[in-house]
Amino acid sequence: MRIEENYSLEKYNTFHIPVKTRWFMEYSNEEELERILRDEYFQECLSLHIGSGSNLLFINDFNGIILHSTIKGIDVLEETEDSVLLHVGAAEKWDEVVAYAVSQGWGGIENLSLIPGEAGAAAIQNIGAYGVEAKDVIETVEAYNQLTFEKRIFTNEECKYGYRSSFFKNEHNDPYIVTYINIRLNKKPQFLVNYGNLKEELAGSEPTLQRVRDAVIAVRRRKLPDPEELGNAGSFFMNPVIPIKRFEKLKVQYPEIPSWPAGEGMIKIPAGWLIEQCGFKGKSHGPVGVYEKQALVLVNLGGARGDEIALVAESIRTAVNDRFGIELMPEVKYVG
Ligand code: EPU
Repeated sequence: MRIEENYSLEKYNTFHIPVKTRWFMEYSNEEELERILRDEYFQECLSLHIGSGSNLLFINDFNGIILHSTIKGIDVLEETEDSVLLHVGAAEKWDEVVAYAVSQGWGGIENLSLIPGEAGAAAIQNIGAYGVEAKDVIETVEAYNQLTFEKRIFTNEECKYGYRSSFFKNEHNDPYIVTYINIRLNKKPQFLVNYGNLKEELAGSEPTLQRVRDAVIAVRRRKLPDPEELGNAGSFFMNPVIPIKRFEKLKVQYPEIPSWPAGEGMIKIPAGWLIEQCGFKGKSHGPVGVYEKQALVLVNLGGARGDEIALVAESIRTAVNDRFGIELMPEVKYVG
């Protein structure tokens, strides 16, 4: 176990905001986690569990305990003729899990290549890209209840997955800490390459796991900034889902509005398009930028504070609401 006091979180958030936490506690196995959870001082303090901070916006220093896991490992739990069940430590880098699966010839997550963050967060956030979501491969999630200290294994159904949402994200549920995820991958991969420009990127070549991974990486690199070079947290907002009737009215006014069906009677609209229409794309506001190739991504151009990023996000929300009557909801979690 590692405990640090007044510790900088600059490396623990991909916006690279140099906030500090009063305490930083890092555990490397479930026994250590249980010890921390049962500690009375821990129970009295404000606490937050983080992964690699690829979906967080720190507004202030954190006056409490930041918990961080280093539980790693990718093990085969079960293997059949058609599939493998992998047991993955929550602190494994998600993209390393994808790279490993692809190298072994196991399909199902190749479309989720290069998404920043860790395996545990992938299951909490239900990460998604190019027509695939984490929920499509998650069989079970192992997690500790912070109030009762009990470990529970959630089935996929119990995780209550939706678009970038899960049981674990619902603040009305007991707080859980994910320690392992168990994912089922296909030894006879079926490829999903019709989404976005994946097909064009494959340029007519027969899909293989490695080719799909390479194509996803190429598309993402072209559109999304590398957080190592330019602080960002990927899509800042979720894509709004609106009733078809509202969409039809909008379509009269904006015939070119892009959209996808999103379940019965609902339509999803790309927030990036709405933000671009409002004139924000490629513009900067002090040290905060709206990425020039993807308006859904806010970037730290250097030295931005969390409140400055939040202010730009707010002006985007207001502009989109004023013009389209659509309320954007952040995908990024605000802390402080
Ligand atoms: N668009 C614009 N202007 C922009 C950006 C997008 O007009 O500046 C329009 C275009 O019509 C484009 C469409 O939006 O065709 C969709 O854009 P893109 O394919 O880039 O996807 P997205 O809906 O903006 C979502 C996810 C991404 C994921 C991609 C690819 C959300 C909130 N975001 O973005 O996830 O990589 O699809 O599947 O659902 C993330 O969650 O951090 C993330 C990067």
